[in-house]
Amino acid sequence: MAKIKTKWICLNCGYETTGYLGKCPDCGEWGSLTEEKLQKNDNKKGLTVNINFKSEPQLLKNIEIDDAMRFSTGLSEFDRVLGGGLVRGSLVLIGGDPGIGKSTLVLQSSGNIAKKGIKVLYASAEESARQIKLRANRLNVDSENLYIYAETNLDEIQTNINNIKPDVVIIDSIQAVYNSGLTSSPGSVSQVRECCNILMNIAKTCGITVIVVGHVTKDGMIAGPKVLEHMVDTVLYFEGERYKSYRLIRTIKNRFGSTNDVGVFNMEDDGLVEVTNPSELFLAERCESITPGSVVIATSEGTRPLLVEIQALVGPTSYASPRRVATGIEYNRVLQILAVLEKRVGLNLSKHDVYINVVGGINIQEPAADLGVALAVATCARNVIVDPETVIIGEIGLSGEIRSVRQLELRINEAAKLGFKKAIVPKASLPLKNSPKEIKIIGVSRLIEAIASSIPVKEMQNEF
Ligand SMILES: Nc1ncnc2c1ncn2[C@@H]1O[C@H](COP(=O)(O)OP(=O)(O)OP(=O)(O)O)[C@@H](O)[C@H]1O
Ligand SMILES: [Mg+2]
Repeated sequence: MAKIKTKWICLNCGYETTGYLGKCPDCGEWGSLTEEKLQKNDNKKGLTVNINFKSEPQLLKNIEIDDAMRFSTGLSEFDRVLGGGLVRGSLVLIGGDPGIGKSTLVLQSSGNIAKKGIKVLYASAEESARQIKLRANRLNVDSENLYIYAETNLDEIQTNINNIKPDVVIIDSIQAVYNSGLTSSPGSVSQVRECCNILMNIAKTCGITVIVVGHVTKDGMIAGPKVLEHMVDTVLYFEGERYKSYRLIRTIKNRFGSTNDVGVFNMEDDGLVEVTNPSELFLAERCESITPGSVVIATSEGTRPLLVEIQALVGPTSYASPRRVATGIEYNRVLQILAVLEKRVGLNLSKHDVYINVVGGINIQEPAADLGVALAVATCARNVIVDPETVIIGEIGLSGEIRSVRQLELRINEAAKLGFKKAIVPKASLPLKNSPKEIKIIGVSRLIEAIASSIPVKEMQNEF
């Protein structure tokens, strides 16, 4: 019988110890140590990163870059989140919930890439070659340059990379492949870390673009050690509402482009279809008769502005402490906005429940949505409506001032394109160099001013 030993590894920093500790002595994280079983392995093969290519120190001026450093995936939305296409020799990690469409996305883009004459090796550790063929038929993916390889052993995959010499390698998924030199099971911290290390070496030394699919944990983080995200060049999350057909792809880290960019797709029978005007999609179900508490904001998470509806529902509470629920926007940010509304505008919500929802399942992280949230709450509390053709942009400071936002012109152009007639924006960001004529721009510097500009005067006098 082989002797079984265990070790404990910190998920955050990779620190190893022989016994359990509540707090990692290295990074100070609590409860991050997980147990891993080690079995003595007589198989001496594996583990070594046996790459045949070498790199030597070079002078910066001597390093040549050709125009073909980047290439398109054939899906413009995917290219956008990558910062303009895939970079040669980069390592991209795509995480997402089970069944969200990760394999569909990578297979479809492999097909597109291979059609351009670029050799692609799609190594699947989760599905058989037949299953992939079935999906490929459904997605109309067919190419001479696309190799499918169902294998879980990374050493074998590596041998085939050396044989086929592809330009792009896809690993689906990092949690299912294993290195035979390690004794722990696939998906364990040390396996994931080691396999990623090998893939990174393949990418950097051979100039092969490697796309790695990763599973996510219950909290939505990529499963495995945190160092995984540090090792790769680009981290993308594929998300979306399970019960709706559109999917969002979001950049969390990108060494070759901006972060927080969003790509929007629609999941159809024959695969993912790009949504080129997502604002229309997010505003499609907006009610004809606008109800109090609904405002449209222009958010710009990356390079493209997006118009989204924010809804608020404010009502008397039946609990001892009123409820605050925020979906799609950070909870603490909402609490801060409510505090500013109370102190600077005099809107007392201490006996009211407040629910905030960002329509369309998207997640807004930037502060430019503050003013929209404040107006949604204020109008719902007072039962008045914001002019439906108005778009709201601005960050709120603690003293009730409206702070400037970036890319204001882009946001206003997007609103004008969708037929909005009025924009309430921070005064500090004005004047704009070129703004569309069909939209009236109102600059505001205080929250109370913004409320006054967005609500019809008659109603305003009665309520505030
Ligand atoms: N015949 C079909 N017609 C339309 N959509 C389909 C069809 N089959 C699968 N899909 C869509 O594809 C999704 C599964 O895609 P895919 O296998 O790429 O997901 P995944 O993220 O790779 O999942 P896993 O985590 O299991 O690897 C399904 O949730 C469904 O939305
Ligand atoms: Mg899959």
